[in-house]
Amino acid sequence: MSGGYVNLDNASLTGVSVAFVSKYIALEGGDGSGKSTVAVALATRIETDGGEVVMVREPGGTPLGEVVRGLLLDSDRLDDWAEVFLFAAQRAELAREVIAPALSAGKWVVSDRTYYSSIAYQGRGRGLGEDEVRAINEKGLDGVVPDHVFVLDVDPETALARQHAADRIGKEGVDFQEKVRAAYLGLAESEPDKVVVLDGSLPADKLVDLIAAVVL
Ligand code: TYD
Repeated sequence: MSGGYVNLDNASLTGVSVAFVSKYIALEGGDGSGKSTVAVALATRIETDGGEVVMVREPGGTPLGEVVRGLLLDSDRLDDWAEVFLFAAQRAELAREVIAPALSAGKWVVSDRTYYSSIAYQGRGRGLGEDEVRAINEKGLDGVVPDHVFVLDVDPETALARQHAADRIGKEGVDFQEKVRAAYLGLAESEPDKVVVLDGSLPADKLVDLIAAVVL
């Protein structure tokens, strides 16, 4: 199964040529960027348009993922590489058990974060290397990767100020968030067909309009 392609069996049965559909949409951004609100609003818009949506969040989304979420976000401290592998482990299972089946069934997947968070936070923020962190994650994803990544870009000082309760990683502070932001901007430059930066200070419905114009 590769993310974003219609089910080959169904396509050949109905005699239609295999069309490319891009239904795996990811919301990304620094802490406090408002992506969770936009993810919900986007899912509602897709459903209004007649699509079926599966929403996922990372870390989380499977029983293992929710346990790992607790380890990742509530531990007092964690080794940096342990952090990378725990994020990648929960993500591999989520891809295989939830995302790939949803895409095969013709559903949309709207994800609150993906492995682009690991590239930005662990790769750049922790300084472990963006290429290394990307490679570790892609190994476990087996081609189930987002078709579109929308980064909600917000100035870190503003974003951190509007956060209610920061978790262990959210507490890293403004310098860390500046590195994360720089990583996202770099990803948008190197993958312009996939990664799009949006002004996260816009209202959620305006952001959904901009995303819908690309994906619907
Ligand atoms: P999230 O629940 O999305 O928090 P928020 O809504 O505050 O952004 O993510 C939890 C934290 O985990 C957040 O600080 C980002 C961090 N994170 C990583 O460092 N790497 C990752 O791969 C993911 C998915 C999240």
